[in-house]
Amino acid sequence: MNFKEELEKKTGEVERILGAYLPKPEGFQSKVTEAMNYAVSAGGKRLRPLMMQESAALFGGAGEGLSCFMAAIEFIHTYSLIHDDLPALDNDDYRRGRKTTHVVYGEDIAVIAGDGLLNYAYETAFRAFRKAVTLEDYERTECALNILGRKAGVYGMVGGQCADLLAEKPETAVTEELLLYIHKNKTAALIQAAMTIGAVLAGADEKAVAQMERCAENIGVAFQIQDDILDVTSSQEVLGKPTGSDEKNHKLTYVAMHGIEESKRQVKALSEEAVGILRGFPHRNAFLEALVEQLIYREK
Ligand code: IPE
Ligand code: IPE
Ligand code: MG
Ligand code: MG
Ligand code: MG
Repeated sequence: MNFKEELEKKTGEVERILGAYLPKPEGFQSKVTEAMNYAVSAGGKRLRPLMMQESAALFGGAGEGLSCFMAAIEFIHTYSLIHDDLPALDNDDYRRGRKTTHVVYGEDIAVIAGDGLLNYAYETAFRAFRKAVTLEDYERTECALNILGRKAGVYGMVGGQCADLLAEKPETAVTEELLLYIHKNKTAALIQAAMTIGAVLAGADEKAVAQMERCAENIGVAFQIQDDILDVTSSQEVLGKPTGSDEKNHKLTYVAMHGIEESKRQVKALSEEAVGILRGFPHRNAFLEALVEQLIYREK
């Protein structure tokens, strides 16, 4: 099977997992669950659950609880996108090839659909305890939950979003340090969560988990630089979200600070370093390596 076919197959499996865990729209709360479904089922690359699964595979595979965490991380990622697009934040009308959640459901429902997804992510992740068979499974699940909570919060994605928003303001001094903090936290943190949770659930040792964390930091920073490049060079038809959003919002991006060519070089260098780390483990996962390599040239 070639990489593209394998990617399609694996993405299809992620879609099935997400569909199985999503709450059904019913009762007086049906509007919020409908909006949650709308945002999640619009698609997207499903990169974070895929990376989690492949990281687990690199260390010999994980038990049943893995699927709970795969769904949970995509729910958290999707909530972050719903809120990121709100008028109070980036104010964007298009996402994943559709009108954004607040455009379709209103800002009030979009805010609580984000809240709903964030909370439901943990409800879903907690279900992994029920799937645990051995004491080891319990311990790994507990460790995975700690990672998820921390990397999604103020010491991770939320912290990065805070710095991203403040960096828009003319009174904020923009530095290389701030730029890196934003990239490492708003984007790399969730990718680190994905890859280290996969490793932890598969029983990787502490040293290997730390290496995966470093590898994922490179992937995440490269991923955000590429996102910033595409915001300038691509089109809404290809991306499924508006271009020119960063300029409109006076964002501090790698492209704004270093230009397109240097940004492209950084994406390549960081991704190659990440693949180097993956190649250094006793076992290899050719699909994961290929996935990281193709992100260098991704067009959406
Ligand atoms: C978009 O993430 C937000 C960033 C962190 C750059 P993705 O590019 O992974 O978005 P989807 O999930 O494929 O829509
Ligand atoms: C957002 O970065 C990262 C999140 C945590 C949502 P961007 O604001 O650049 O993401 P897009 O371009 O809207 O997807
Ligand atoms: Mg943003
Ligand atoms: Mg945005
Ligand atoms: Mg962007």
